[in-house]
Amino acid sequence: MAEPASVVVPLRNRPAPQTLQNHLLAAERAARTDGSRSLSWIVSAISSASKVIAARLRTAGLDGNLGAVGEVNVQGEDQQALDVIADEVLIQELQAREGVVVLGSEENDDLIVVDGPPAQGCRYAVLFDPLDGSSNLDVGGSVGTIFSIYEVAPGEETNLQAGRRQVAAGYVLYGPSTIFVMTLGDGVDMFVLDPAIGNYVRAGEKVRIPRRGKIYSVNEANVEGFPAGYRRFLDNCRRQGYGSRYAGAMVADVHRVLLKGGVFLYPPTALAPNGKLRLMYEANPMAWLVEQAGGRGDTGSGDILDVEPGSLHERVPVILGSPQDVAALCAEIARDRHSNGNGNA
Ligand code: AHG
Ligand code: MN
Ligand code: MN
Repeated sequence: MAEPASVVVPLRNRPAPQTLQNHLLAAERAARTDGSRSLSWIVSAISSASKVIAARLRTAGLDGNLGAVGEVNVQGEDQQALDVIADEVLIQELQAREGVVVLGSEENDDLIVVDGPPAQGCRYAVLFDPLDGSSNLDVGGSVGTIFSIYEVAPGEETNLQAGRRQVAAGYVLYGPSTIFVMTLGDGVDMFVLDPAIGNYVRAGEKVRIPRRGKIYSVNEANVEGFPAGYRRFLDNCRRQGYGSRYAGAMVADVHRVLLKGGVFLYPPTALAPNGKLRLMYEANPMAWLVEQAGGRGDTGSGDILDVEPGSLHERVPVILGSPQDVAALCAEIARDRHSNGNGNA
């Protein structure tokens, strides 16, 4: 009796998904610097923390984790329970990673110098907004996490650096899906969390922002307090048929601008002459990402990334988006500066 033919399952070319982990390892190999390994692990720590935060967000309404905790943070804002949870999860993950020597968080008054595993190579500072868009939490709106990473020389742990010196930056958008967007200085890559495998899988490579958009994103309730140049720009946009979209969470609004083009603004207002957004863990990381995608990030008086920081929680006016839209607004602001004959728009 003939031997039954052995069943040979043809090796099919089913490539494994390109995950965030293997993207980081590939970047580490390409960098070939002794610090890049630590950097991969630090970004990986943020991705792990984001999966925990995403899970806590999904069931916050069932776990009693919505609402404020009765504390006011250094920003003068009511701290939400999920702000605190996200902050604690990120600190716990990051302080255990080799190479992390200092942390700066929107939810903590001062920098946290980490007495962690001795750095084998480069040493890093990680600045983050653990939960961005907190006012959306109780109403089921999109929120995010924003991070910004610098190399730190020994003895300079508490020196704040200009955004131009970042070595990694990104955000996580907790929306209908959980999206991880980051740059290591060689373009912008986008990953979507696949719940089936618990990994972030690449969904976009070398993302490029449209050179011009048809959307502006600003809190129009404040428009009367905006400098004249901003108001003229917005009038021009309306006349040209621009749409207005505003999620109230910087991560959601910037993500839309990154994909669709246009401009996101948080201008100076009567109440907040430097705007509301924080330089170190909102404006700088987002400006670098947008710039890496071919866009621009400006304060109205120059590149966001060139601002020399004075304090951890300082605020700057924010203009982020397509190069042509940002240039048009900056031209209106410069016109005012010129007609006022001073540096103030
Ligand atoms: P956070 O929740 O981290 O304090 O950030 C909220 C920020 C930013 O996400 C958003 O663009 C802006 O606040 C919205 O401010 P307004 O509600 O004043 O428009
Ligand atoms: Mn924020
Ligand atoms: Mn926040």
